[in-house]
Amino acid sequence: MVLQAIKYKRGELQILDQLKLPHAEVYDEVKTSTDAWHAIKDMRTRGAPAIAIVAALGLAVEIENIAAKNELSSIAEEVEVFVKEKLDYLVTSRPTAVNLADASRKLQKVVQTASAAEGSSGSSVKDAYLRAAEQMLVDDVSDNEAIGRHGAEWILKHASQSGQVSILTHCNTGSLATAGYGTALGVIRSVHGQGALKRAYCTETRPYNQGSRLTAFELVHDKIPATLITDSMAAALLRLRGPVDNIAAIVVGADRVAANGDTANKVGTYSLAILAKQHGVKFLVAAPRTTIDLETKSGADITIEERAGKEMTMIKGPRYNGSTLDLTQVETVSIAANGIDVWNPAFDVTPAELIDGVVTEMGVVEKGSDGVFHFESIFEAGKLGVKPSTVEGL
Ligand code: MRU
Repeated sequence: MVLQAIKYKRGELQILDQLKLPHAEVYDEVKTSTDAWHAIKDMRTRGAPAIAIVAALGLAVEIENIAAKNELSSIAEEVEVFVKEKLDYLVTSRPTAVNLADASRKLQKVVQTASAAEGSSGSSVKDAYLRAAEQMLVDDVSDNEAIGRHGAEWILKHASQSGQVSILTHCNTGSLATAGYGTALGVIRSVHGQGALKRAYCTETRPYNQGSRLTAFELVHDKIPATLITDSMAAALLRLRGPVDNIAAIVVGADRVAANGDTANKVGTYSLAILAKQHGVKFLVAAPRTTIDLETKSGADITIEERAGKEMTMIKGPRYNGSTLDLTQVETVSIAANGIDVWNPAFDVTPAELIDGVVTEMGVVEKGSDGVFHFESIFEAGKLGVKPSTVEGL
């Protein structure tokens, strides 16, 4: 059974509550943009592409339900303004992942174009918005499958030893972080699908444990051979098991790739990139073009979200009685000294110099002979077989 974090049909959206995983699979209804904002802020849904899609679809459900009650304005401009205001609000939920801001910009353009069209009405603006938001859900899965194929091909081509390869990943970039299949985890799925994966290693991903709770859950769910390590074990892993297990690459996702290739991703990514360099292991960022932000020149311009200290000092899970888990007794326990000051940045920035390639749905972008990433070409329709955006109105 395919793991589905986002269940959508017109007028209805459900998200798998990721704070309850891996021990309980509970879906939450998202009926409005306010519900979507809170689901994103609380991290019941998370991962750069999933955040953007849940925001877009949460608003789609809200508008559809307003229309179903015959309460949608018949005036195109009024619906346009309503949608734009809601999108501006949704963007404030989490600042680092650019996919949300990118989706908002594209959807604002869609409603603007629809509103300016000859004979437009409130209903035609609503329909244009719904079609564009729904297309984002479809596009994300096909983009991820393409990312998986390109990344797998690149890794197998660049592996220094022949035979099956192992891959280390960080955080969660799979079906739970996207509309389906995943980015970095999609690359691992694709290598596995070709029978070329020896083992996936996933980090625990402190402080919020997206690796041990979510990636490990997906790997077990899909029966992919995998081993969990704590973040602090990565160096020892590369030294002691790297050559034996043929660890050919570290593949991570991204929340924002700046124009120069500097990449914001889950905190701990930067350390892994340094380790990859030290151990001669390839370091790849896997992300759709919606994560590449040509407006942001370098990592220094990326806003890094800081989250509550209790995400580091407390941990939540079902009670363990020494032999079994009692799933009905979920408890939060303190794992740090009371009163300690806490710094909890959710992301860090890996400098472009440490990144060997950015795997997109268009292919793997490597640095040019000038040592610099050039992303412009993957956005130009017609070049490199680039498909134009399928989002209506663009
Ligand atoms: O704080 P999170 O869990 O939303 O952080 C997620 C990540 O950092 C992912 O690596 C990134 O969003 C890419 S998900 C395909």
